Amino acid sequence: MTHTSAARRPAHSTVGAGFAKQLFAKPAERRLKATLDAGLERVEQVLKEEVRFADEVAQVTATYLLNAGGKRLRPMLLLLTAQLGPEPATPEIDRAAAAIEITHLASLYHDDVMDEATLRRGVTAAHLRWSNSTAILAGDLLFARSSQIFSTLGTEAVQLQAEVFERLVLGQMRETIGPREGEDRIAHYLQVLADKTGSLISAAARLGVMLSGAPREYEAAMHSFGESVGIAFQLVDDVIDLSPESDKTGKLAGTDLRAGVETLPVLLLEKYSEAGDAAATDLLHRIRTRVAGTAPGSADPTLSRCDAVESDPAEVDAIVAELRNHAVTAETIEAAHEYVRRAVDALDQLPDGVVREALREFARRLVERDF
Ligand code: IPE
Ligand code: IPE
Ligand code: MG
Ligand code: MG
Repeated sequence: MTHTSAARRPAHSTVGAGFAKQLFAKPAERRLKATLDAGLERVEQVLKEEVRFADEVAQVTATYLLNAGGKRLRPMLLLLTAQLGPEPATPEIDRAAAAIEITHLASLYHDDVMDEATLRRGVTAAHLRWSNSTAILAGDLLFARSSQIFSTLGTEAVQLQAEVFERLVLGQMRETIGPREGEDRIAHYLQVLADKTGSLISAAARLGVMLSGAPREYEAAMHSFGESVGIAFQLVDDVIDLSPESDKTGKLAGTDLRAGVETLPVLLLEKYSEAGDAAATDLLHRIRTRVAGTAPGSADPTLSRCDAVESDPAEVDAIVAELRNHAVTAETIEAAHEYVRRAVDALDQLPDGVVREALREFARRLVERDF
């Protein structure tokens, strides 16, 4: 990203520009970086043109989070994998990258309603700014708009988008409902991550191959790369959720725990507890009774996962910090590293070169990030 585009975005999103800088540090990668920067500028333009509605309320609400920033990782990945083909920069590729970002954006509106989040991309979550219904409808409008863009990209792209859409919904649904009786909770959780996060990241990686005329056998490699990177990315996101540095993360610490979403650190804590660790049992109990259910009230209480719990903010912050400093958090990061290793292994199917190297760095940097 150029200085100009970073300057237009709010402070927390400029970390994304820093991410791109780290990713392409070596001189040999600079040309690739310049190509991607130019591509991202074009995608930004397409986003502006495509996320436009005649209705004023639709316009204000649907552009709200788009204008608030974001790292644009999925468009960047799509532009990067498009470099594998003989036609790496076409209007179709730019439109696909924009459509993927719009799908992601739509999912953020809906996710914040379900998670009762307060802060997104450094700004007040849309459902708190307006209402749950408005946030859901703004997300729906964006899903509709991304479908319109996909309809210009051919049947295969439409098919892929439909599959991703289904997996996003199923991932969220399984996260909301939880595992079946007797189902392994960690296996269930990892499937949720593959569906709610891996599916879209994997689609971004595959679309770059599909639309640039790259050899079709790269698609399978990009599929497994994207799924593994997506799981790793979400595991790190779950740890970032525990970070008190809201100015960096753009989110409130402990949002998942407050909403009663038990991510890998909590599931690992449960394992410690089952193994007889009394301190783990105590911490788990406090997470479930003193933190879960303290998400700042959603406008529609029927959508809340938990009954509201009286909370002492200092106590909640202390419990979140305790979990962050527990060994389970390091174990979660280690699990993310394992998925990065799998992603990097999938790159063996690609030819040697600067694109493969950049994809490897993309995967590695994603788990080292703190935003
Ligand atoms: C947030 O994604 C949702 C997850 C799948 C973890 P990002 O961290 O890519 O969010 P933005 O686009 O940068 O805001
Ligand atoms: C993101 O999951 C899943 C989406 C598809 C939006 P999270 O609920 O963990 O993401 P954040 O932490 O709110 O960004
Ligand atoms: Mg969520
Ligand atoms: Mg969330």
